[in-house]
Amino acid sequence: MCGIIGYLGKGCAQESLIDGLRRLEYRGYDSAGVAFHEGKSFSMARETGRVKNLATSVQKNSSSSSLGIAHTRWATHGAVTVSNTHPHVSNDGKFVMVHNGVIENFNTLKKFLIGKGFEFSSETDSEVLCNLIAYNYSELEPSEDRFIDAIRMALPQCRGAYGIAVLCLDFPDTMVGARRGSPLVVGLGEDANFIASDASAFVGRAKEAVFLNDGELAVLQGSEFRITTLEGHEAKAVSQPVDQISEEVELGDFGSYMEKEIYEQPSALKNTLRGRFGDDGTTAKLSGLEGHEEELRNLDRIIFVACGTARHACMVGEYLIERLARVPVEVEHASEFRYRNSPKAGKSLVIAVSQSGETLDTLEAVREAKTKGLLTLGITNVVGSSLARETDGGVYQRVGPEIGVASTKAFSSQACLCAMLGLALGRMRELSPMDGQAIVTALKDLPDLVSQVLQQGEQIRELAVKYSKADHLLFLGRQSLYPVALEGALKLKEISYAHAEGYPAAELKHGPIALISPECPSVFVVEGTELSAKTIANMQEVKARKGPVIAIAPQSVEIPEEAADDIFRLPDAHEVIRPILANLPLQLFAYHFALLRGLDVDKPRNLAKSVTVE
Ligand code: F6R
Repeated sequence: MCGIIGYLGKGCAQESLIDGLRRLEYRGYDSAGVAFHEGKSFSMARETGRVKNLATSVQKNSSSSSLGIAHTRWATHGAVTVSNTHPHVSNDGKFVMVHNGVIENFNTLKKFLIGKGFEFSSETDSEVLCNLIAYNYSELEPSEDRFIDAIRMALPQCRGAYGIAVLCLDFPDTMVGARRGSPLVVGLGEDANFIASDASAFVGRAKEAVFLNDGELAVLQGSEFRITTLEGHEAKAVSQPVDQISEEVELGDFGSYMEKEIYEQPSALKNTLRGRFGDDGTTAKLSGLEGHEEELRNLDRIIFVACGTARHACMVGEYLIERLARVPVEVEHASEFRYRNSPKAGKSLVIAVSQSGETLDTLEAVREAKTKGLLTLGITNVVGSSLARETDGGVYQRVGPEIGVASTKAFSSQACLCAMLGLALGRMRELSPMDGQAIVTALKDLPDLVSQVLQQGEQIRELAVKYSKADHLLFLGRQSLYPVALEGALKLKEISYAHAEGYPAAELKHGPIALISPECPSVFVVEGTELSAKTIANMQEVKARKGPVIAIAPQSVEIPEEAADDIFRLPDAHEVIRPILANLPLQLFAYHFALLRGLDVDKPRNLAKSVTVE
């Protein structure tokens, strides 16, 4: 949600900044801007639309400055206009700033500043913060710390979340970053150092990355850097090699990141699974759980907190873990858990699941759980992310960067890790070695089965062609395939803008059946259990009302001819991996459906990867 990149070095900042913005564009793509320190003034370029518009405009008026900041925006305060585009400049022209997050009390601060004679050219909260820094600066005597002190004074006046990078005209070799709630990371290279919202912004240019914690400030001065607290105390700077954090995010021969990420699921899942089984072949070994065995064995309840697709993966986990480990599981929207103040029932474990590890609602849910003294675990894809750092233990997904805004491979690996967690917890509690062994075998087979399903992609494309005129679709499934139905509907609506709803198949008769018509296709994901017959009966109810039916079903489930217009077959598989397999055709269906409508599947309207605002 918005991307920041700043450059301070020996070379020319322009190329690194534009390249960094391109890498960050998936986080927000409403508009983009850049500012360079030119000695006596700042030069700026800001454009609405994609980074390529900014790149063209910067090329026309190129800068040789070696200090600059840049931003790609996902609009929160104010429409998508040039004046609302970052960087923002203070009234006195001394400061430029880029900002991620939301300053909740910006109206109060704005009124205060207007009272002091400040004027505003944008509707943003960010311009307010930039001017608040300028105001505090004007109140300070000249000193070598005046720039940093002005930021230290301004930030405690703000309520809400921020990740910022700031330049000051009077300090031509300094860049300052600060964070609270929105991620920020310093990149250390040979000829330049960086501040960015995400380490992928400086891949190939920086060797080491230092992640800031909330309430910390990064001061880059010449080739030096230091991390301090807002109060000015030295903070510990722990660096990590960049190549371990962010892999290359090149598209290769694929037409979109979404397509690439769907088709790389077999290898991604191999990475998720690698080295994570016990030597006796009956359990999963998740090193992030080590040291917590006693607590896990004696759990009374698990609460998953997550948002969107990650929450659907947790719901798959709910069915599997309850079945394998016999622990009561609840899945909460992270944003609801945070404010709900649920009663503390026995020994509860809170598991937060987030691809980015930076979703603010999920992080706040973790913080709330910690306040209550609950054990917290994280499942995330991003090494060094806030979630990884703030939870008591956790497991990395290891599927490589997910760039497409619509989450695909992340869902599969999260559902896979939930199954592994169920297996590990089950074996600590009631699950027999034989059952454990069968699950290990199933999980090891998963990457090959995923390949098999993806090889039938053309069949799904044909289905998408047949149904792509539909503006309303229903997705239905039971038990652990109910979350798959939800996920299928979410994927379709977010990238194709068709209206889609997911329901438990049996709920159909309790309302949604009113929508059934020849214009409203229903996609049924069939279990392959004793419940399949009931789902097939639901399909027949739809057919009786002239609704088109698409069935996604395991090979061995017999489906009467009159019950479905189209059937896509899945390999027969163990229940723990069925949801992952059943979701693949739905990913492909949404992908082709959106392409056929001429839409950009990687950057759907109004969305952004990584939602770092409430
Ligand atoms: C949907 C999608 C979102 C995310 C949600 C949580 O395709 O990508 O629903 O799943 O915003 O994001 P993370 O997993 O980063 O916390």
